[in-house]
Formats: sequence, structure tokens, C-alpha cells
Amino acid sequence: MILITGGAGFIGSNFVHHWLAGHDEAVAVVDKLTYAGNLDNLASVAQRPDFSFERIDICDRSEVARAIATHRPRAILHFAAESHVDRSIDGPGEFIRTNVQGTYELLEATRAYWSSLPPVERDAFRFLHVSTDEVYGSLDDGAPAFSETTPYSPRSPYSASKAASDHLVSAWHHTYGLPTLTTNCSNNYGPYQFPEKLIPLVILNALDGKPLPVYGDGSNVRDWLHVEDHCRAIERVLELGRPGRTYNVGGKNEIRNIDVVRTLCAILDELRPDPAGSHERLITFVKDRPGHDHRYAIDPTRIESELGWQPAETFETGIRKTVRWYLDNAEWIARVRDGRYREWIDRQYGRRAAAEGADR
Ligand code: NAD
Ligand code: TYD
Repeated sequence: MILITGGAGFIGSNFVHHWLAGHDEAVAVVDKLTYAGNLDNLASVAQRPDFSFERIDICDRSEVARAIATHRPRAILHFAAESHVDRSIDGPGEFIRTNVQGTYELLEATRAYWSSLPPVERDAFRFLHVSTDEVYGSLDDGAPAFSETTPYSPRSPYSASKAASDHLVSAWHHTYGLPTLTTNCSNNYGPYQFPEKLIPLVILNALDGKPLPVYGDGSNVRDWLHVEDHCRAIERVLELGRPGRTYNVGGKNEIRNIDVVRTLCAILDELRPDPAGSHERLITFVKDRPGHDHRYAIDPTRIESELGWQPAETFETGIRKTVRWYLDNAEWIARVRDGRYREWIDRQYGRRAAAEGADR
């Protein structure tokens, strides 16, 4: 069986569905269920005998060790993290706690378990750390994409905490021999993404006729990958990746934020026309994110050539599917938009609007 941290979040829950659909091997999820963790994401598998869930904070080493000892996984996949850059600017403490301290506690619990395994199981064991391209920092237009040898240069509290976690994982491999794998992936989109991130936020605001907030002038570039393609990449790295190695994951879909928002507006104009006019009328340029990274781009040569991974979705096919998913899942949306979500949105965008006023 495999054990997954953060399996109630966006990518983790997509991975659980992906795994259970294609493998005859059980999954145990441990997740703290922060605002971003949502058991609704796992509702359709909750009753399966090959699925189990435990509410555990990864910073609690004894609880993590107990879960590992109970399930005796052949692999641990580490998705749990605080993941939203704007929240990390607002309050970095939780990012240091979960992403740095939590990864350390998890590594130590894993090392104790792994050391106790018989040699054959110890050799086969894997610890796969799910990380981000944001650890490499920001690219100028035209600069070469991030490769696995690009020096780390994180610039937000989020990316700094993820960079720290990557270094811990690397150290546990080199010092203790723990068979680790690390993936550094670009921006994901798809089902079950919490509507604080650009794509679901824009879809939901557009459906409500609310402003579509674009930071700065909208020229920042992200390299978008459908979450299913990320799940396939993680699966491939787990099975074929070389311990100690890192793999960059990206779909060569570099798009400016303003073009992502316009694409979403065009799809919604077609699928859910608004009698008041095109959804583009709702685009609103707001005060930029402090330290906003200009561009991310992934060079996926290693995972393509060594592991034979290729994305199945283009941005055009993936974004259309994603919009349809949000249109078809009104109940999921209603349930995630609870008080804590509204409180964050009010605080975040209320403050940006206030700052805009002050700038004028
Ligand atoms: P998410 O915020 O949607 O989910 C994070 C999950 O971790 C939630 O279920 C949350 O409850 C859980 N969690 C948080 N703190 C915890 C703790 N202390 N103990 C146990 N569980 C805890 O994040 P996501 O977008 O699914 O990202 C998953 C991983 O992928 C993260 O490590 C992130 O850095 C990485 N990543 C994300 C993207 C992206 O575009 N979303 C891209 C590349 C890499
Ligand atoms: P986001 O989804 O927060 O991912 P990340 O910051 O990890 O790349 O943001 C994607 C891009 O969209 C980023 O350049 C910031 C921008 N953005 C907006 O313009 N408006 C918004 O309301 C949000 C949430 C993000």
C-alpha cells in the first residue's frame, strides 16, 4: 500500500482518484484538514475497502509514526503543504511550520520506519516529495526554462519554505540513504482546486458576475499543467525514478495571466452566456502581489527522456474540461465557500481595493 500526506487537498485528492482507478493497491491518506483540505474531494472513494483516511498533522511525529507503523506502506507520497503564495505573504508562520518543520518530522518518522524494514523492502521503499517550480525563482522573458540544475532562488515565503523542504529531502537522501524522489512541477489546474487560486477564482467570480481580479498588468507568465498530467508524472517517477534524483514537470504551456483570464471568459461566454455581456467586462486590474514572480517555465527534458512521460492534455483541452467540471459541480462549490473562504476573500481583495484607492 501507499501512504499519502495532504490527500484531501487539490492535487493529493486527484492523485488518490487517479491511483485507485488504475492500481490494485490500497491508499491511506493522512491530512490535517486545514481550510484547503476537503473530505468532499474524497467522498466517492471514502467507502472503498482499499481506502482509509486519518486526520493527522504532519508536525505531530508520534501520530505520523503510528500511522506509518499501522499501514506499513511501500511508499510515502508527500503532498501536504501550505500552498498559496498570497496567504504566505499574509502569514508566513504556518508555511514554515507545515512545509519545513512538518517535512522534517515526516522525514524522521519515515527514516525510523524505513531503517526497521527487512533489506528487500528497504531497497524497494520510496519517499516521494511533491514540490514546485517556484523554488527556482523568477525568469525574465526569453530566459531559458528551469532545469533540474537551475540554482534555487525562492522569493516568496511559500517558495522559500518549499525550497527548505526540498533541501531537507535531499539531505536525508545523501546523509541517511533514504530513497527519496522529488518532483518540481509548474502551476496545476483542474477539478477540486480551492477557489483562492487564479483559475477557479476567475471561473466562480465570472459565474457570479463579480470582478475578475488581475494582479498588476496581467503580463506575468505561468506554465500551466492539467492536474491529471501531474498525477501521471508522479506515478511515473514513483515507479521508474532514480532515488536521490529530482524531476521537473511541466507541459510547455506558458501563458500570460491576462490571456488565461480572457480564455476563461471566452469559454464561459460560449457555455454560460451572460445576458449582461461578455464576461471580459468583469476583468479588473488590481494592485500587484508584493515580490510577484514574473515568469515560471519548466524544461521537462529529463522526465520526458528518462521516464517517457508526456502530458496528455493541451491547455485548450484541459481548461475546457476544467470549466465544465466547475459548471457541473455546483454543490462542491457551495460547500467549499464556507465562512473561512469568504473571510479570506474579503480580507484579501478588500485590502487590495483599499490599497488601489490609496495609490490614486
Ligand atoms: P492544497 O493547499 O490544495 O492542499 C494541501 C493539503 O495539505 C490540504 O489537504 C491540507 O489540509 C493538507 N495540510 C496542510 N497542512 C498540513 C499539515 N500540517 N498536516 C497534514 N496535512 C496538512 O495544495 P495542492 O495545490 O494540492 O498542492 C499539493 C502539493 O503540491 C504541495 O506540496 C504544493 O507545494 C505542491 N505543488 C502545487 C502546485 C499547484 O499548482 N497547486 C504546483 C506544484 C507543486
Ligand atoms: P496563483 O493561482 O495564486 O498561483 P501562483 O502564485 O502559485 O503562481 O496565481 C497564478 C498567477 O495569477 C500569479 O501570477 C498571480 C496571478 N493572480 C491574479 O492575477 N489574480 C488573482 O486573483 C490570483 C489569485 C492570482
